[in-house]
Amino acid sequence: MEDLHTGFPTLEGLLLATNGVSFTVERGATLALVGESGSGKSMTCRSIIGLVPKPGEVIDGRVVFNGRDLLGLRRAELRKVRGGEIGMVFQDPTASLNPVYKVGNQIVEVLKIQRGMGTREATRRAIELLDRVGIASPETQFHSYPHEMSGGMRQRAMIASAIAAEPMLLIADEPTAALDVTVQAQIMALLSELQQDTGMAMILVSHDFGVIAQHCDHVAVMYAGYIVEQAPVQEIFDHPSHPYTQALLASIPHLDAVKRSEIVPVKGQPPELSRLPSGCPFSPRCGFVRDGCDSVPMSLQAVGADHVTACPYVTWRDRGAGAPDHRDTPA
Ligand SMILES: Nc1ncnc2c1ncn2[C@@H]1O[C@H](COP(=O)(O)OP(=O)(O)OP(=O)(O)O)[C@@H](O)[C@H]1O
Ligand SMILES: [Mg+2]
Repeated sequence: MEDLHTGFPTLEGLLLATNGVSFTVERGATLALVGESGSGKSMTCRSIIGLVPKPGEVIDGRVVFNGRDLLGLRRAELRKVRGGEIGMVFQDPTASLNPVYKVGNQIVEVLKIQRGMGTREATRRAIELLDRVGIASPETQFHSYPHEMSGGMRQRAMIASAIAAEPMLLIADEPTAALDVTVQAQIMALLSELQQDTGMAMILVSHDFGVIAQHCDHVAVMYAGYIVEQAPVQEIFDHPSHPYTQALLASIPHLDAVKRSEIVPVKGQPPELSRLPSGCPFSPRCGFVRDGCDSVPMSLQAVGADHVTACPYVTWRDRGAGAPDHRDTPA
């Protein structure tokens, strides 16, 4: 993804739900997207596969998948990619299962169209997939309609459907948020196994830093439509450089690196995207804000190997350019 801009027209002007988002996900690798509610994680995911809700739209950027720019594809071509080479699991499972077809038959259709299976083989595989995502009595549940299932079961059925075609990329937007911890662990293990077997890449939106630490290679931290920091997962935990990332990590209740007494929620509210302050959008909430934060460009700069941040003052400090350490002088 390169310089993605996704906009919604509003009375106050154009709102940018993604504002110059760029990243790369390698085959077999997993990128985590993290950030508070409304920061643009879902719109980033939806932009990839042409599912930004109207009147929103992708305004600029490139999404190159396997050598093809997805943003240039026709609707019909994109539909073929969705559910085939790219699978997706969304926050709201009711939105992606068809209410008028039995759950099992929806998976069978995917297997027939995308994998060229006959009905019998596809049925057997669909039941196996329902079983793998932790649905009890899969033979019976095969014949359920989505509304006959509990929310957690629908979520699992949607995951089964998303991985049925063995996609090269799975976009998973809080795939296990509605599930209890045991089932969540089971599904994450299943996805990891699939990644190892098929080389599937994954973009995972999650609020769970335990899951991220265990399953992700890279982390992109989003704030107000921007990526404000990006690094390999261990680097993010060991050396978070953007004040927002530091605040986010300090707000995680059970991270080993954080002592209980140090847990503090990120102060203040996320900004209205239609009324962003000038310069760094985090500056009104930043404990290290200083003169100039209202005019800094939101460009990412290297602070380590494979590690970029949008806070220029971190860069100065780490380059040892003699600039004062802003961390020593909170406002
Ligand atoms: N249907 C819509 N109409 C107008 N603006 C929207 C719409 N959906 C999203 N937005 C805008 O896009 C921004 C990003 O939304 P997005 O759904 O990507 O957030 P998110 O990071 O996924 O949040 P969450 O963690 O709550 O799922 C929102 O803050 C909102 O301003
Ligand atoms: Mg979301």
